[in-house]
Amino acid sequence: MFKTKRFGMFIHWGLYAFSGLHEQEMYRYGVASKDYEKYVNLFNPTDYNPKEWVSLAKNCGFDYITFTTKHHDGFCMWDSKFTDYKITNTPYGKDVLKMLSEECEKHGIGLSLYYSVPDWHHPNYPNNIGHHEISERRESDRPDEKLYIEYVRNQITELLTGYGKIQSFFWDIPPKTRDKSLNELIRKLQPGIYINNRGYDEGDFSTPERTSADGAVFEGLTEACDSIGEQSWGYRKNEDYHSMLYLTSAIDRYMAMGANYVLNVGPDEKGRIPEVSEKILVRVGDWYKKVKEALFATPVKYEAIAKKGILTTQSENALYLHFQGGLASNGFCLEGFKEMPKYALVLNNGQKLNCVFEKMPMLYGGQGTSLADVLHINGIDADGLSSQAVVIKLEFENIESAVDTEFVSDNIRIL
Ligand code: GLC
Repeated sequence: MFKTKRFGMFIHWGLYAFSGLHEQEMYRYGVASKDYEKYVNLFNPTDYNPKEWVSLAKNCGFDYITFTTKHHDGFCMWDSKFTDYKITNTPYGKDVLKMLSEECEKHGIGLSLYYSVPDWHHPNYPNNIGHHEISERRESDRPDEKLYIEYVRNQITELLTGYGKIQSFFWDIPPKTRDKSLNELIRKLQPGIYINNRGYDEGDFSTPERTSADGAVFEGLTEACDSIGEQSWGYRKNEDYHSMLYLTSAIDRYMAMGANYVLNVGPDEKGRIPEVSEKILVRVGDWYKKVKEALFATPVKYEAIAKKGILTTQSENALYLHFQGGLASNGFCLEGFKEMPKYALVLNNGQKLNCVFEKMPMLYGGQGTSLADVLHINGIDADGLSSQAVVIKLEFENIESAVDTEFVSDNIRIL
C-alpha cells in the first residue's frame, strides 16, 4: 500500500476553521481556552460535503486522504465516547469522520488518520509548557500521563475499529515518553497499517515537513508533507499561497527520491474547500497526472546528470529527467550515452524534442579545449513551462546498452 498509494491530500479541519487564523491559535496567538472553547457552540459547517472532497481528491490524482481527527486543541472530529469536546456536541451534530470514511471507501480513496499527542483540552494531559504546549494553567487540570495514555488508547481503539480500513496513522509531536504498546495496539487493530515516526516509538516512516530535501534517495519509508499555504495548515483567511513552481518542484523532488507526499488544504468553517485552494489543488493535480509515471519510476542516480542537479528515475527502458525550479535554457547536453533515445518527450505538455549526438566545446560552464561527445536535447518550451517542475522522458531501445555504465553510480545515499 505504502509503495502504491503515494500521493495524499492532507486535510486540517477542526474548530480552528471558525476564526480562520491558524490551527494552533491557542498556542501561537495566546487565545485562552474559555474563548476558544466557545467555538463549540458556534461551529456549524452546514456546507460540509465529503462527496465533494473525495471527488476533488480523485480528480486531482490523490490516492488517499489524511484527516485530522484530533489536533493539538484536543477537539475531536468524531463521536468519541471518551470526551464531550467533540463534533457531535456542536450545532452541526454529525460525525464528520464517519461521513468522510464512508465516501472514501465508496470511491477507493485510502484513509489515513492524523492524531495529535499534545492535547490542550484534556485535564490529564501532562503539560510541561514545552514544545507545542500552551502556558495556560486551568483549575480543572489534573496532569497524569498514565491516565492520559489510557485516554489515547481508548480513542485510537475507536478510530481504528469504527471507520473502516485505515491506510496509515499520523501521530503528531513525538512525546518524550516511549511506549511501544500504543503502536502495537494500532497494528493489532489494523494489520498492515503504516505508522509515522511522530508517536510513542519510531514507527515505520519518516515525515519531513515543509523542507526541501537535497538530491539523495531516501533509504527508509518516507512521507513528506507541506501545505498549499505558507502560514497555516488549517484554514486561514489571509493566507499566502504557494506558487505552482514551489509546489510542483517540492512534490517532484520528494517523489523522484522515492518519498510519498501529502499536500495539505484547510477547509473553512462552513466545511468548504475555499475556491482559491481548490484551484491550486486542481492545477497541481493536472501537472501530477501528466508526470506521474516518472514519479512512480525507480530513483537511479546517473553521476553525470546528477552533477547538473537533475534527479533521475528509471522504468524499464525509460529514463526520466526531473528539472525542479525551472529550466535555465531550452536545451541541455548529457554525457555518458552511446545510443540515441527512440524519442525524447516533455511529459508536461507532450512535446517531442530534438535529439542529436554532437561534439560540444562547452561543458559545465567552462570553455573546454577539447570536444566532448554528448547527447544534445533541445527545443523545450522553457518559458511556457516556467511555473512548474519539468519532466523529460527518454525512451531507449535498450537502456543497458545505451548508457555507459561508468556514469551510473550505485544509486543510494542515506540522508
Ligand atoms: C506541525 C504543526 C501542526 C501540523 C503538522 C502537520 O507539527 O505543529 O500544526 O498539523 O505540522 O504535519
